[in-house]
Amino acid sequence: MNWQQICELDLLPPEYGLPALIRNHPVALFRTRDDELFAVGNVDPFCGAGVMSRGIVGDRDGEPTVASPMLKQVFSLRTGQCLDDPDARLPVYPVRRRADVVEVAVP
Ligand code: FES
Repeated sequence: MNWQQICELDLLPPEYGLPALIRNHPVALFRTRDDELFAVGNVDPFCGAGVMSRGIVGDRDGEPTVASPMLKQVFSLRTGQCLDDPDARLPVYPVRRRADVVEVAVP
């Protein structure tokens, strides 16, 4: 795996998202209230704009989610699946924390 260091954990408060361009992959990095980290594609498949990092972090029936800031569709942060449209999905990327640095793996 191609792990890339992204930022110090402190830069990413809970329920917050950060955009990152990692080896040409537009990624949205999120930290949930429970301190879990997720990385999904930053491009909203419904409008084609790189806005997912500005989405609202939440959960649906215990599944951690992000809602697009544009049209409000909700996506699972675990799988990238759009929970409002079975045909839409965000790519997901492995993410880990080493010491206090957040790292994301891209293909
Ligand atoms: S950014 Fe998606 S419609 Fe304008």
